[in-house]
Amino acid sequence: MAASGLILGIESSCDETAVAVVERGTKTRSSIVASQIAMHAPYGGVVPELASREHLRNVVPLTRAALAQAGCELRDLDAIAVTNGPGLAGALLVGITYAKALAFALAKPLIAVNHLEGHIHAVLLEDRQRRAGAGMGEPGPLPAEEAALPMPALALVVSGGHTHLFLARPPSAGPEMGSWRYSLIGRTLDDAAGEAFDKVAKLLGLGYPGGPWIDHLAQFGDPKAVPFTFSQIKVKSHLEGKAPRTKGALTAPIADLDRHFLFSFSGIKTAVLRYVEVNQMRAGCEARQQALMAMAASGHRPTWQDARALCDQQTLDLIASFQHAVVGDLLRKTFAAAEAVDAASVLVTGGVAANRELRVRFTAEAAERGLPVAFPTPALSTDNAAMIAAAAWPRFLAREFAGLDLEADPRLVLS
Ligand code: KG4
Ligand code: ZN
Repeated sequence: MAASGLILGIESSCDETAVAVVERGTKTRSSIVASQIAMHAPYGGVVPELASREHLRNVVPLTRAALAQAGCELRDLDAIAVTNGPGLAGALLVGITYAKALAFALAKPLIAVNHLEGHIHAVLLEDRQRRAGAGMGEPGPLPAEEAALPMPALALVVSGGHTHLFLARPPSAGPEMGSWRYSLIGRTLDDAAGEAFDKVAKLLGLGYPGGPWIDHLAQFGDPKAVPFTFSQIKVKSHLEGKAPRTKGALTAPIADLDRHFLFSFSGIKTAVLRYVEVNQMRAGCEARQQALMAMAASGHRPTWQDARALCDQQTLDLIASFQHAVVGDLLRKTFAAAEAVDAASVLVTGGVAANRELRVRFTAEAAERGLPVAFPTPALSTDNAAMIAAAAWPRFLAREFAGLDLEADPRLVLS
């Protein structure tokens, strides 16, 4: 069983190469992320071939750096954990191939972690760390089910690639603890929420990724100026395979889900586009994009303050209204689902969990309902490997190891 409790986590599912060492699923000894955002930004989205190439370039030096920062060596590790999906096939493959090579060469167990499970464990990891830091116990051999957040938790995983609701249940107690169980409660039928932020930002001439730009600019607009609504979701056409499929929709079946907990974000993107056209704002968006690109070309990395100076009040109102509508939709469905499945807490995770309006409104709603709510810190909101190493710990205890025939599964389902 556990000799050192040290697990090396490797994450390469999208545009971040990340390596971390986490002790017993609780103590982050190191967590290093090499972001490729600047490289993909000129294309307005992730270019898969470039992503794989960068992962390949980064994964070995990052592993060395993560071990050095953790003050340990490869031989001290108990296991190697790696994201095996969902994500970009070529990108996943880089992390998996390297993890397999390490596991084989060191004769250590290999643990496969679903990326969405990782995002959920980002919050659980920090929850345990906070508890340890608050003097409620040293980070020792802490069983995962002792997380302070009451369980089961309704988890909203909301990022550029995913918008899913899961009910997360800890392992049952006992010597054979087993690993966490997840039931899919809801998900998007088309775009992910982060994808909507990115597409709307692009349309308005703002930078990539769009979420942080919209988050900052929304505070200067009137969230009630444009009354966006979410139309009736056409579940039938999705079940019949007629509706268009986008990356947010790939990773789970919908036939058995309650339609009240399904999301759809492609409509609001089209509504923003229509608003821009009807109000003749197109030229302004293009001028804004040109101005921001010119700044970048002259060596000044544009900030949201620069963008604000380039936005008139109508644009700021549009941004605020868009964000208000998306956050409101996420909020209503998440809390309705929490009530329906009798969740004892709510956790929100993934890149969009960094959104400030989302945090404020979820916190207020949770307080009103007397339901604890948790978010990751900004560092663990976006992709990282500490969450992968943390999610692997209960699997390590349960001896749920992957074989050296582990493959990338771009559409891996969490259940
Ligand atoms: O989890 P993540 O780093 O990668 C994926 O797995 O997709 O999430 C990135 C997404 C992007 O769509 C980005 O626009 C969004 O998270 N995002 C935000 C904010 N920060 C990042 N969306 C809204 N508000 C933010 N503050
Ligand atoms: Zn992610």
